[in-house]
Amino acid sequence: MDPPSERPGRGRFITLEGGEGAGKSTQVHILAGALRRRGLSVVTTREPGGAPAAEEIRALLVGGAVHRWSAMTETLLHYAARREHLDATILPMLAAGAWVICDRFADSTTAYQGYGHGLGRDAVRALHDLVVGAIRPDLTLILDIPVEEGLARACRRASDRVGAAGSEDRYERMDRAFHERVRHGFLAIAEGEPERCIVVDANRPPDRVAAELERCVLARLTRDAP
Ligand code: TMP
Repeated sequence: MDPPSERPGRGRFITLEGGEGAGKSTQVHILAGALRRRGLSVVTTREPGGAPAAEEIRALLVGGAVHRWSAMTETLLHYAARREHLDATILPMLAAGAWVICDRFADSTTAYQGYGHGLGRDAVRALHDLVVGAIRPDLTLILDIPVEEGLARACRRASDRVGAAGSEDRYERMDRAFHERVRHGFLAIAEGEPERCIVVDANRPPDRVAAELERCVLARLTRDAP
């Protein structure tokens, strides 16, 4: 692997992160529309998933019994999916000049497996260096919301989905303390990398959150855009 040459092209790599019920998926959609209206070529994708093989791994992670994997196994599965996603989707799209907006990326593993499950940041970082190397988002927007509010939103969303095939609520069923550690993990990541990460208050109406995200992206990334 040759990390610098894996990140060619004029595209930009933007990730949205946050705990359950923060509204990431809605915001990915709105942000993509806003950037397209500015004439940019935009691709949206998600993790775990975003490529056929990675979506198969996703099914192992988001459904089933809460304790079905050890923290390490779960981390390996997320990174296996991530490498597929990079090779099949993210890197080719960036090389073609697209702006890739990704709903979750590696910070989710640090927050959920590193902090939430207690695997620790060092273990996640070691795996990250091996699997992902120097590839990193140009900008990461962390949607922050109090755990109770986020879980309540996620719960309402799940009840709207009743009857839909395949329940994807394995992480939502983890206990409150787990989700508090995840939130703390995201905030710690942001504090350590302020040049890459911006924390956005997601406990507001979606249109206000969307306006702030668009402002952040334009301010940070469009100066030298194609
Ligand atoms: P989603 O609900 O945002 O689609 O994500 C599915 C779940 O996967 C979510 O509850 C968080 C979890 N997750 C991790 O635990 N680690 C990771 O690295 C990623 C990408 C997601």
